[in-house]
Amino acid sequence: MKMVVAIVRPEKLSEVLEALFHAEVRGLTITRVQGHGGEIERVETYRGTTVKMELSEKVRLEIGVSDHFVETTVNAILGAARTGLVGDGKVFVVPVEKVYRIRTGEEDQAAVTPIAETVAG
Ligand SMILES: Nc1ncnc2c1ncn2[C@@H]1O[C@H](COP(=O)(O)OP(=O)(O)OP(=O)(O)O)[C@@H](O)[C@H]1O
Ligand SMILES: [Mg+2]
Repeated sequence: MKMVVAIVRPEKLSEVLEALFHAEVRGLTITRVQGHGGEIERVETYRGTTVKMELSEKVRLEIGVSDHFVETTVNAILGAARTGLVGDGKVFVVPVEKVYRIRTGEEDQAAVTPIAETVAG
């Protein structure tokens, strides 16, 4: 299994969610975060210019998927989150050692495999 961690622009979130839905990706976590992506802000001070790390609002998505689903998931994000301008974000693919579905006690593959007719989750 892998955890796909994506940092995207907040204004691209709904497009990303729609793309993930069409790619049949189910099960994800979203957090609003602040991040730094290399952009530098120059601040004029009394004694001269200092440089401050610029922080911008981003959305972090965490999606636990089985290995064969990684490419589909990443492609959905890349396609929907891109504007072509700096600050579009990043996607990290992180190995996952163990997954449990709490309700059933299922593990690993079975625990990340989406259930088609989930009414509420
Ligand atoms: N190396 C990193 N580690 C963790 N988070 C990162 C990293 N790089 C970028 N991020 C996160 O992604 C957000 C957007 O980064 P950004 O798109 O500016 O990356 P970039 O590599 O500088 O690409 P670009 O050249 O398109 O700006 C950052 O605000 C930060 O939250
Ligand atoms: Mg950047």
